[in-house]
Amino acid sequence: MKIALGADHGGYELKEKIKQHLAKKEGIEVIDFGTNSTESVDYPKYGHLVAKSVVDKEVDFGILVCGTGIGISIAANKIKGIRAANCTNTTMAKLTRQHNDANILALGARIVGDVLALDIVDEFLSASFEGGRHQKRVEQIEKETCNLF
Ligand code: RB5
Repeated sequence: MKIALGADHGGYELKEKIKQHLAKKEGIEVIDFGTNSTESVDYPKYGHLVAKSVVDKEVDFGILVCGTGIGISIAANKIKGIRAANCTNTTMAKLTRQHNDANILALGARIVGDVLALDIVDEFLSASFEGGRHQKRVEQIEKETCNLF
């Protein structure tokens, strides 16, 4: 499994911890799109770089980290085909894979502790999309309209 990582300065330290955590696992290859220090940067760039890597199928999933997980997930979700979910607990991580087929996990380094963040990563990467009734809803997201209006 290939994973793209990206973060702004607020998420840099947690991104590094996630990278070390994933390095201990067999069969996971990481592409790190930065940033590479706590020097202030703008999160949209990193959201877009990871999102592009996912839609180009260079990787299977992306993981993005900023201070809250909000800005970087909003940026990633601007890229067509991206379903980035900002998760603050393991249940959200499992359900967003099972129901939304989320292809990017976003985390807020100032919101969740490191141990919880790594558990959220593990849950996200081990859960699978259930398809079925959720399939058409994911397709509706991609079409941008639900033909309801
Ligand atoms: C950066 O200070 C902060 O605004 C950013 O990491 C993120 O929380 C934005 O949503």
